[in-house]
Amino acid sequence: MKADIGLIGLAVMGENLVMNMESKGFTVAVFNRTISKVTSFIEGRAKGKNIIGTYSLKELAESLEKPRRIMMMVKAGEAVDELINSLIPFLEPGDILIDGGNSHFSDTVRRTKYLEEKGFLYIGVGVSGGEEGALKGPSMMPGGSPAAWPHVKEIFQAICAKVEDGSPCCDWVGENGAGHFVKMVHNGIEYGDMQLICEAYQFMRDGLFMTDDEMQAVFKDWNKTELDSYLIEITGDILGYKDMDGSPIVEKILDTAGQKGTGKWTGIAALDEGVPLTLIGEAVFARCLSAMKAERIEAAKKFPKGDTHIAGDRAELTEALRKALYASKIISYAQGYTLMASAAKAYGWKLNYGGIALMWRGGCIIRSVFLGKIKEAYDKNPGLDNLLLDGYFGATVKSLVPAWRNIVAEAALHGIPMPAFSSALAYFDGYTTERLPANLLQAQRDYFGAHTYERIDAPRGQFFHTNWTGHGGNTSASTYNA
Ligand code: 2AM
Repeated sequence: MKADIGLIGLAVMGENLVMNMESKGFTVAVFNRTISKVTSFIEGRAKGKNIIGTYSLKELAESLEKPRRIMMMVKAGEAVDELINSLIPFLEPGDILIDGGNSHFSDTVRRTKYLEEKGFLYIGVGVSGGEEGALKGPSMMPGGSPAAWPHVKEIFQAICAKVEDGSPCCDWVGENGAGHFVKMVHNGIEYGDMQLICEAYQFMRDGLFMTDDEMQAVFKDWNKTELDSYLIEITGDILGYKDMDGSPIVEKILDTAGQKGTGKWTGIAALDEGVPLTLIGEAVFARCLSAMKAERIEAAKKFPKGDTHIAGDRAELTEALRKALYASKIISYAQGYTLMASAAKAYGWKLNYGGIALMWRGGCIIRSVFLGKIKEAYDKNPGLDNLLLDGYFGATVKSLVPAWRNIVAEAALHGIPMPAFSSALAYFDGYTTERLPANLLQAQRDYFGAHTYERIDAPRGQFFHTNWTGHGGNTSASTYNA
């Protein structure tokens, strides 16, 4: 019997995906560079299942139904290119290679072109949900050769997470690197969501002097509101978790954050696209700042905070904090979506924004009820420029603004750092300001560099230069660039 799909790379994610596929009725052929892992898998977890161990790429290729579907779950980077080149001699036109690793979208753009030119089909699929997700149902974001999708749709939509109504958290995202791009933005949004929760925790701990048990109760309550999400839920659990001595373990964890780089990638993509993705940017930088522990200890001695206690009704302040968190979260998603829209334009993808919200609705780390609302907004208006311009989100943010300002102001007055909350508010205030001070900025640019400016009393696209000092001459920079 031939296998429905082959999978290369039997690390935890790979193994769990194989078990997941097999449990849904598919026969899977497996291979791993270190052959002993194939043997131990076949004799262990895979024993008695419709899983075929193979011991060379040739044997793997021969064990598959045609067109072949081969999923690579290997380390991102050069390993993927090496593996692709080793596989090519065993492939026939129309065969499909799938990269389920955490590849940078630009690599997927390049590999799709490379394989399509040779007559093969390629898919780069973002897989989110960690080990458990891989086994029980991850969120999956496939992009690549459109002709490949009908061949993998059934398998992917069988193994992925489902929302309450049974809809699969996997649909075709778009051409070449679109799937990996959307997965990258997902990870950036995850950085933002986590940072927002951490800032709320610090506000409660250092500003409201709340205990971990009290904060746990707050997060449990919040999880019954619009904030209902996996990350809020686990935060409640974490705050309630006690160390062996009965005290909260979270307070014993060193406050220096690690990162693997996907948040940074998202920030770089935003800078490349010229999209203000300020909240995720702050979330990445907050991790960097946290890593400077030794310097922070010294600086804290030099600049003592004084009293961080925020006076006022605690219940009212925590409710205001919840509102501020919700408003900031809406901004983060609004920014993430504008990044995807800008990249879609640049790379020629036709992204289904409602579908993306649905893919993130279950299975992945940012899964939440809130994403259902985003799906509704984009289903209603697929061409929505900014989430803030949607009726529901616009009205919601409007109602949250007073509390949001109050929390950011209290934090600033008491020296509690809230870069994500406050940058979100600054973005909102900038986005909703008709006249920004960029007129002065343009004047400065024209003053020192003759960069020219447009005027409010002349048509757009007409450029002017002023001889500000009387001795700069009348030649503008754009004239010499021409
Ligand atoms: P290994 O067990 O032989 O190390 C995660 O590291 C997975 O990627 C593992 O299954 C690992 O195989 C695989 N991997 C890493 N580099 C690889 C390469 N250059 N070619 C094939 N598989 C690779």
